[in-house]
Amino acid sequence: MSTAEYVMALDLGTTGNRAILFDAAGEPLTQAYRELPQHYPKPGWVEHDARDIWRDTRWAMQDVLQQANVEASQVAAIGLTVQRETCLLWDKNTGQPLHNAIVWQDRRTADRCQKLAEHTKEIYDRTGLVLDAYFSATKLAWLLDYAREQKVDLSNVLAGTIDTWALWNLTGGKVHATDHSNASRTMLLNLEKREWDQHLLDIFDIPRHILPRLQPSLGEFGRTDAELLGTELPIAAIFGDQQAALFAHGCDRPGLLKCTYGTGCFLVTQTGNEITRSQHKLLSTIAWSRGDAPVHYALEGSMFTAGACVQWLRDGLKLISSAEETEGLAKQVDDNGGVYFVPALSGLGAPHWDMDARGAFFGITRGVQREHMVRSVLEAIAFQAREVVEAVNEDCGDPIQMLKVDGGACQNDFLMQMQADVLGIPVERPAVLDATAQGAAFGAGLAVGFWQDYQQLVNDRKIDRVFEPGAGAAQAQKNFKTWQKAVDRSKNWIE
Ligand code: G3P
Repeated sequence: MSTAEYVMALDLGTTGNRAILFDAAGEPLTQAYRELPQHYPKPGWVEHDARDIWRDTRWAMQDVLQQANVEASQVAAIGLTVQRETCLLWDKNTGQPLHNAIVWQDRRTADRCQKLAEHTKEIYDRTGLVLDAYFSATKLAWLLDYAREQKVDLSNVLAGTIDTWALWNLTGGKVHATDHSNASRTMLLNLEKREWDQHLLDIFDIPRHILPRLQPSLGEFGRTDAELLGTELPIAAIFGDQQAALFAHGCDRPGLLKCTYGTGCFLVTQTGNEITRSQHKLLSTIAWSRGDAPVHYALEGSMFTAGACVQWLRDGLKLISSAEETEGLAKQVDDNGGVYFVPALSGLGAPHWDMDARGAFFGITRGVQREHMVRSVLEAIAFQAREVVEAVNEDCGDPIQMLKVDGGACQNDFLMQMQADVLGIPVERPAVLDATAQGAAFGAGLAVGFWQDYQQLVNDRKIDRVFEPGAGAAQAQKNFKTWQKAVDRSKNWIE
């Protein structure tokens, strides 16, 4: 009889890597986290050293067990969830990456995308995605060009998104696989057939043999190398991080929508077992899959910068010393002082998809203070979510009634109140903000039979607070219109 009492989630995000132990009630017990160094070799380029990701993953797994005084044998399974689209190539003999991983925010392949413009429609039809440098396909093509220039023998090379890299390392180099939800973000997966699409591989000039095997999101992918934790543990679920959060929120039916405020801001709505096509440049994507059961699809509005703007206020502008400070500063002023911020630090995602837009502050006068600028950045995060909610409402028919939120930035009460005000609907914040990790844990625990009842797990989640639209709603909605003017002016900035 198994003595397992916990499930371990590995949440490998853009800004940091964490391991969390979840108990039988589905509540987080302990976590270990390390911020991940970011590399910006040129304007618009963003890279991660994949060796850092693996080093910190290994450390976090060991540290979280030590902190909790838990033996690895008490862990039923591991659920893995990752930043999506970020990808790399590595040598399967040495285990060394051929180059830094190219991060989803990286714009270096914008030109490549423009050259492929004639394929826009067929790419959308096959993958559900907008032709954009955000996705892995053109990043892999860039990395392959680099490898060819270095005269690398491609027969020894493996490709993958971060889940694939982590899985390969977790299993001691034995398993090269990915799940449908991550694969659906590469721009190489045929959404209907759930297979690598040979026609697209030809367009992007990507050899099929370097790509991972495809598997459903829930189910065993492999076992950890015994040397890692002293025992072999099953890796029993893999999700893209936004899909994991959708799973944790219980959004398993059409009409349910969540927004995760992480590095970026990702609004995802479940569309059931059918692919829904957007009229407003939302992405059709795979939510999750399990065995032979019908696949769950989703519509997504991806906004590239949310928490990243606050991080930039801290590390780039040095206007604040911590993200937490922004709430107090924003509340110190009665309004935004006429300042509007366009969060296009990595171009604009949904619903604009303008790779050449760049960030901007508008409306600056002599009276403007630091507090106004900070407030305008938080307001911009809420405004961009409103644009995507409008698109979801138009694509799906019935207007959504409530927004479920998660992610670090939703601790910010000012931002959440602003979000409810500008949307005119309640915003529901759960007690556990790490919905991404929780979703991965739920998936893994369900896959190995540690838990049986998904609905029960979801129903037992506690709600911390519901933000209702308040006194500021009318003004917020008026300001939203002004902000849209600012967005228009920052488009097509790069020639
Ligand atoms: O598509 C990118 C997304 O998966 C990154 O999420 O939480 O690392 O900002 P996050």
